[in-house]
Amino acid sequence: MTALTTPTHDATADTARHPSVDDSHAARVMAAFPGGSNGEFDLTPDLATAVAKGSGCRLWDMQGREMLDFSMGWGSALAGHAHPEIVAATAARLSLGTNFATVTDASLSLAETIIRLQPRRESKIRFCASGTEATMHCLRLARAFTGKRLALKFEGAYHGSNDEGVTSLFPSGKTPFPNPEPSSDGVHFADTIVAPFNDPDAAAHAIKSHARDLACVIVEPLHRCLAPAPGFLESLRAACDAAGVLLVFDEVVTGFRMAFGGAQERWGVPADLVAYGKALGGGMPIGAFVGRADVMDLAREARAGKTTYVWTASTLGGNPVSAAASLAALSIYARAGAYARLESLGEHFRERLRRVLRDTGHVGQVIGTGPLGQIIFSNLPVVDYRSTLAGDRAKARVMMLGLFRAGIFLNPMGTKLYLSLAHDEAAIEEFGRRLARVLGDLRDGVAHP
Ligand SMILES: Cc1ncc(COP(=O)(O)O)c(C=O)c1O
Repeated sequence: MTALTTPTHDATADTARHPSVDDSHAARVMAAFPGGSNGEFDLTPDLATAVAKGSGCRLWDMQGREMLDFSMGWGSALAGHAHPEIVAATAARLSLGTNFATVTDASLSLAETIIRLQPRRESKIRFCASGTEATMHCLRLARAFTGKRLALKFEGAYHGSNDEGVTSLFPSGKTPFPNPEPSSDGVHFADTIVAPFNDPDAAAHAIKSHARDLACVIVEPLHRCLAPAPGFLESLRAACDAAGVLLVFDEVVTGFRMAFGGAQERWGVPADLVAYGKALGGGMPIGAFVGRADVMDLAREARAGKTTYVWTASTLGGNPVSAAASLAALSIYARAGAYARLESLGEHFRERLRRVLRDTGHVGQVIGTGPLGQIIFSNLPVVDYRSTLAGDRAKARVMMLGLFRAGIFLNPMGTKLYLSLAHDEAAIEEFGRRLARVLGDLRDGVAHP
């Protein structure tokens, strides 16, 4: 047995290895976290930072540096950071006990609210603590219900850190469909097949030809930042129905953001199972999977030992503090004008980005729907993952890092920029001015990689 040893790591040693680090917070971050980050991307030592607080669409790091936030907790803080109503609801709940690992009055109300939004009223729900768990449970339920093993995903889609989520997430784009490509080591990818987004014929062909083994199609209705072509989601619904395959909507991003009823409401296509997360929690940890009662009922203990039984459990899933925060967030989203505001802010934002591209002479386009936007440095039509590869991704990364250095907080690997109800035209203008400087420098070749 290996004896436990006292850690001897000295953060100052890292500072020495990264001579550009001039503050101890950044050095501590670089020493403690792989790549100076809690996941997804690496930060360079000069960018590594620890956020201390946020309010509205701004945040402050441990040194008190203010940043304008266009990540918004990867989209979870749709009402804005530290929204007073969410803070009050959360605080009031804390003193009543934080977790009982069972249904509470708060999670019951939340469950009923979410079920009422489902086009299929005989839906049932369970809570978990993240979007990753929610999609994982949907996939497992679909496989059990159909007795089939394959899941079809769309190339480039993210469904969380689970196996399907990181299969063909950022593949080479050269593997012939429907073959998967792992985007991480340690991933079981043999039970996933892949199709191009927005190609109804290719999807229908893949679904039909794999019908015998295909349990479900899982789709982000807004594929990363790409809108579904008219009729695409409907065509998936029809192809799934014809092949005895379940349709799973990963609404972790679209839920409560594209409309109160998410993508199902916005695009009018019902799914068999739906995964939620992010905006549902208003910044607190939550996930939910909801869908057809006959599928969800496979998760009853009474079925244990039967061939169609699905284990689902989550210690913190639907805890009363998260549920209370979620109920407060939902009451903010449900207010008259909230979605019209998110739409108009999104339009305004994308238009501002387009203006910067024009003014700085960069070839590119701006995609996005609702309160989301993304710049792609290509003027070729972008409809799916492979067409995004035509964009200059190295330049996009330099732009994102340049924005970060210019005081815009974002996910530098990321693609999407998130707005919230706390953003306004002034924040967008500030973003636009900083982007213009960054892209101006880039054109003049003075940006630092
Ligand atoms: C579409 C989609 N599904 C699932 C997830 C995973 O959610 P979480 O990070 O809460 O596990 C994400 C996270 O970015 C996502 O964008």
